[in-house]
Order: sequence, then C-alpha cells, then structure tokens
Amino acid sequence: MRWSERQLAMLREMGIRVWPVGQESVVQAQLVPADAPAMASASVRATPVNTDELRKAATAALGAAQAPGRAAPASVTETGQRQAGVAAMGWEALRDAVAACTACKLCEMRKQTVFGTGSTEAQWLIVGEAPGEQEDLAGEPFVGKSGQLLDSMLRAIGLTRGDAAPQRQVYIANTVKCRPPGNRNPAPDELAQCEPFLIRQLALLKPRIIVAMGRFAVQSLLRSDEPVGRLRGRVHRYQGVPLIVTYHPAYLLRNPEDKARAWDDLCLAVETAKLAAQAA
Ligand code: URA
Repeated sequence: MRWSERQLAMLREMGIRVWPVGQESVVQAQLVPADAPAMASASVRATPVNTDELRKAATAALGAAQAPGRAAPASVTETGQRQAGVAAMGWEALRDAVAACTACKLCEMRKQTVFGTGSTEAQWLIVGEAPGEQEDLAGEPFVGKSGQLLDSMLRAIGLTRGDAAPQRQVYIANTVKCRPPGNRNPAPDELAQCEPFLIRQLALLKPRIIVAMGRFAVQSLLRSDEPVGRLRGRVHRYQGVPLIVTYHPAYLLRNPEDKARAWDDLCLAVETAKLAAQAA
C-alpha cells in the first residue's frame, strides 16, 4: 500500500512510523511514541493495513442491517423513575441532572462532574471510561496524557472535538461521569448508576458511528466481558448504530506496541462511517 505524505504525517502524530519494504510500500510500523522517547526501542510488525479488507468487513457488517441491534437496556425503561426521567431529558436537563447526581459514592470525592464534550451535531461518538485527575479539575473528558493521544489519533483520521463539519466532529463521553478516586476502575454499581446518562447522550446525539475505547465502554455498550483484543477488528452494532471497539488511549500509552492495531481500528471506523453515510 502506498501512503501519501499527509497520511504518513498523520501516522507520525499517533506515534506510528511506516517505512517501505522492497518495492511495495507495505506497512510495517515501528512504534515511536512522540511523547515517550524511552519507549522508542519497542518495535512491532504491525498488521498490514489492507483497506480492501477493511472495506469488505465494514460492508458485510452494514449489509447485515436487519440484524437485531442490542435491545434497550432494561435499566433505562424498566427500573424506576430515575431512569425513566433521564430517558426523557433534553441536553440541558441531562447536563443539569449529571451535575446534581448523587446516585453513587463517587459524588463525595469529585471536584465536578465531567459530562461530555464536542458538538451535539457530531456524527462520531467516542466513549471512554471515567475522568481522571485532570478531567476532574477541568470538567472536560480526555484533557490529560491519554487525551493528548486521543486528540492525535482523531487528528490522524481528520476528526476533531472542536469546530468542523458534523462528519468531522466527535462528541466524547465517558461511561462514568465522576472521577473514581486514585484512578481506580469504576465499580459495577457506579457503572450501573451512570449508564442511563450515557444512553441518553447516545439517544440525543444519534451518532452515525460509535467508537468504544477500552473494557468499560465495551461492557456498557455491548454487554460483553470479552477482552478488547477479541472484539476489535469488526463492526458491532449498538441499537443499529455501527460500533467499533478499540484500545483505550491510556492502555496504548502503556502498551505502545498495540498502537498499530488501534490505527487499523480507526481505518475500519472511517470506512464504516463512509458506508453508513452513503446508506443514510
Ligand atoms: N480516560 C477516560 O476514559 N476518560 C477521560 O475522560 C480521561 C481518561
């Protein structure tokens, strides 16, 4: 595969270096995390990015449009007034409800809630895990180190959380809106209490594509305990919306050898979004 100068620059942004092998500009990647020079020696032979295959996978999944999407989680519609109330809210009421939420003990330690960021017209929804220290201070998701990597990854495929046309814009939300102390994993009851908020964000946004980053986003949206490594590389669906699973940026910072796989996932997401746009 031949890469344009622009694509190569984008890959560099993600910390992936690509170089030609023989006549063919086959993709091999050496990981060169721009932000972690000490890791520059870690290298990996990346899965070659075969866009034809990615396109086929995306087409196959979108062709199965009649396949049943996951039913609305019981918690939204069947478990009490709180969930039903959330399910009826508009953006403003939802933001207020999150800010005032005391449904689990995370509210006791938070500086502020972290609702989500990006345009409500965005066609891409990125779902992460939970705010960290920086996000708790800023009130915005992904502003720390993993946020910088996420922004680079998004830039690499022409997306932004800032101003742009809706097809280039992302909305970013977490499964949990308050910081778990010490950046521990969110507990099952915390995930359960927060889930109606994410589900309502999704329903209001009506994204064309969802990217679920990491274990907790996957558990929440796909109801799956399978590892990310087993779920990535294909198109899932959340209530009819194509969903791509990929590694969480914090995981990629710790495991830079998987950045090339994350790049494959982003390429699959781009192809899938294009096909979804054509079908719309
Ligand atoms: N990790 C996440 O999953 N979300 C954030 O907002 C920050 C780090």
